[in-house]
Formats: sequence, structure tokens, C-alpha cells
Amino acid sequence: MRTFHAQKYTTMVTVAFYNLKGGVGKTASAVNFAYLAAANGLKTLVWDLDPQGSSSFYFHVKNNKDESKKVFADEMNIKESIKDSKFENLWVIPADISARNADIIFKQSKKKIKSLLSSLKQFDLIILDCPPGISVLHDNVFNAADWVLMPNIPTVLSIRSYETVVQYFKETDLDKHKIKCFFSMVDHRKTLHQETIQTFYNNKLFFKNYIPYLSDIEKMGIHVQPLFEYANSSYAAYCFRELWKEISKTCIN
Ligand SMILES: Nc1ncnc2c1ncn2[C@@H]1O[C@H](COP(=O)(O)OP(=O)(O)O)[C@@H](O)[C@H]1O
Ligand SMILES: [Mg+2]
Repeated sequence: MRTFHAQKYTTMVTVAFYNLKGGVGKTASAVNFAYLAAANGLKTLVWDLDPQGSSSFYFHVKNNKDESKKVFADEMNIKESIKDSKFENLWVIPADISARNADIIFKQSKKKIKSLLSSLKQFDLIILDCPPGISVLHDNVFNAADWVLMPNIPTVLSIRSYETVVQYFKETDLDKHKIKCFFSMVDHRKTLHQETIQTFYNNKLFFKNYIPYLSDIEKMGIHVQPLFEYANSSYAAYCFRELWKEISKTCIN
């Protein structure tokens, strides 16, 4: 692992890409925004919390057996689980299938992830790539994150899930100001998508920029790379860059 140099930024910012729903673009966002942040000089760590291990796959990093479980249980120092990516300023804590045990290990503790992260002062930005759902693991994410960024497909069920999460924050005394949303996998040909985006245009929780449904993004799975590595001048890359500028202004000092 490379050594870390003096911190450029005064505070470490933790950003979770989260949604109650699966398949909405959390991992595509986590991976591409981490890449942009690192390319802009932020020392960035992606912590893959999803036993599917999709962001680990995109960054070609792997755990030894049961490493996720050991990190959650504090049986392995979190610093030792950090893997170097092939990109400058970008490190990854991969997920393996044992990450499915998070809820059992955390029991009722909602601050375990926050406490594990508190020992990682050498990063400017920590990105949490979350599994879908709303469980003890997610309570941990909500407590640890400075920002909970929710990609939303502009459809009825996706908007319902966003409303459920906002309501959950209110009921459980979580800080709802942490939640910010953006539209993802937007299909311009669909009237429902256009109308939903219009409806939320003045909603302060939503960023103005969004990510369209584009095959260049879907092809991340074929190239096994962040988008910018194989389609740097594409429209998809432009959309991620514009949204990242907007997110950075709000979330990263
Ligand atoms: N904007 C997009 N346009 C086209 N395909 C996308 C887009 N975002 C994600 N995908 C594809 O959709 C699938 C689910 O995306 P992913 O980011 O893994 O979602 P999640 O992490 O929320 O489950 C993946 O196959 C991914 O390549
Ligand atoms: Mg994912």
C-alpha cells in the first residue's frame, strides 16, 4: 500500500450512496464519483459494504476469506483491510460474501461503522457503497455518513422508497438534512420520467443535474473499469462530471 502524505483538507467527509431499492445506480455512482474525486486530488477510500461486491469488482480488488466479517467484528484492523486500486489517490475496502453478516455482528449497535471510520484520518473522502435495504447496517451508515446521497429512478416506486427513507429519518431522530437525491437511469423518451423530474425540479433535496440511462454506463460491467477509463469524452462522462461538480459544492468543503 502506498504511504499517505499530509492531509490537504481539514476534515474528512463521508458520503454514502444509498437507496432502499436495489438496481438504481448506487454502485455506478460510487465508483465513478470516487474516480473523479481521486483524479481531482482527494485522497479517496471506497468502502464496499454490499456482499454483492460490485464496486470491488469494478476496481479489481478482493478480500481474503471472511475479511468483511472480521472488519465488522473488529477482529481485523480496518487499516489492514484497505487495498490499493490501480488509480492514484484511490483505495478500496472490498466486500466479500461474509459482509452479509453485518446485522448479526452489529447486534443493536448503530455506531459501529462510525467508530471504525474514526481511525481513518488520512483520507479526504470516504465513499460508502451500500447494499439496498433498511436494517441495522443502514442505521450504522446513516450515523457514520455526513451525506446520504440517494440515486432515484424517476418512477413511482422509486419515489415511494425515497419518501419512506425521509420518513424513517424523521421518526428515528436522524438528521434528515444529510439526505440529498439525484435522478439516475433517466430515460428521456419516457413521459413519466420527464414529468417526475419536472415535479421535483424545485425540491431542495434534489440536485439539478442527473444521470441518464446510457449504454456507455451499462458497459462498465464489460470493461470492468470506471466509465472515464474507456469513454472519457462521452456524454455519460460529461453527465457524471457535471453532477459531481454540483455534489462537491454542497458536500465537500
Ligand atoms: N445510468 C445508467 N445507464 C445505464 N445503465 C446503468 C446506469 N446506471 C447503472 N446502470 C446499470 O444498471 C445495473 C445496476 O446498477 P448499479 O449501479 O449496480 O445499481 P445498484 O448499486 O443501485 O444496485 C448495472 O448493470 C449497471 O451497469
Ligand atoms: Mg450496488
